[in-house]
Amino acid sequence: MPASLSSTSTKISSAATFFAIFSMVVILLTVSPCFSDPDMLQDFCVADLNAATSVNGFPCKPDANVSSSDFFFSGLMEEADTDNIFGICTSTGNVRTFPGLNTLGLSMSRIDFAPNGTIPLHTHPRSSETGFVIKGEVLVGFISTRSVFYSKVLKAGEMFMIPKGLVHFQKNVGTGKATTMTAFNSHLPGTVILSTVFVTTPTVPNGILAQNFQVDETVIASIKAKFGAL
Ligand SMILES: *[C@@H]1O[C@H](CO)[C@@H](O)[C@H](O)[C@H]1NC(C)=O
Ligand SMILES: *[C@@H]1O[C@H](CO)[C@@H](O)[C@H](O)[C@H]1NC(C)=O
Repeated sequence: MPASLSSTSTKISSAATFFAIFSMVVILLTVSPCFSDPDMLQDFCVADLNAATSVNGFPCKPDANVSSSDFFFSGLMEEADTDNIFGICTSTGNVRTFPGLNTLGLSMSRIDFAPNGTIPLHTHPRSSETGFVIKGEVLVGFISTRSVFYSKVLKAGEMFMIPKGLVHFQKNVGTGKATTMTAFNSHLPGTVILSTVFVTTPTVPNGILAQNFQVDETVIASIKAKFGAL
C-alpha cells in the first residue's frame, strides 16, 4: 500500500475510533444512573406496601386514602437498644417504614452507638449518603475504588459524606454513647454488609471463601460458626 494511502486509512480509522469512543462516553453519560432514584411524575405517591405487584418501587395508595399521617414519621425519635455484638442500632426511615417517601428519592436513618459500638463495613448499592453526629465522637471512614482509605473523627454537629456504593463504616470512639443521623438520595438505599458472605442462604462454600481470603477452610468454618450463632 502506498505510504499516503496507508496514512489516510490510519487517519480514517483513528477518526472512527475517536468517534466510537466519543459516542460511547456520550451514551454512558446520558443513560448512566447519575442520580439514584428516577425523578417522580406526580406530587407524591404514598406507597401501598400491601399491593400485589411491585415493579421498581411501590404503587401509590389512592389519593382518597392519603392523609397527613402519611407524610410524618416518628420512628427516629427514640434511642434504640444497642445490646448486640456490634453495639449499635439503626432505626430506618425509608419507604418500607415511612411509605410517604415512595418515589421521592429520599430517606434517613438514626444510628445509636454503645461505647465502642460500630456499624460494620457495608455499602449502599443505590445511594450516596450524608450525615452528621448528634452526640459523641464518631470515626467515619470509606474506601475508594483505588483502595484509598479516607477517615476522620467527628464531633457533634460535624457532617460527613459517603459516595454511592463505596465500602464504609462508623465507630463510636468517644467515652460515652453516640448518635448519628444519616440521609440518602434513595427511598430504599439497600445495605450490603461485607460479613454477609459468611451468612448467606444457601451458604457460600468454605473453599470459595478460603481462596478469597487466603486462609485455611477451618478459619472460614470458625467465622461462619461465630456469625451463625448470632
Ligand atoms: C382505601 O380505603 C378503602 C376504604 O377505607 C379501603 O377499602 C381500601 O382497601 C384502601 N386501599 C388502600 C390501597 O389502602
Ligand atoms: C472500648 O475499647 C477499648 C479499646 O479496645 C477498651 O479499652 C475499652 O474497655 C472498651 N470499652 C467498652 C465500654 O467496651
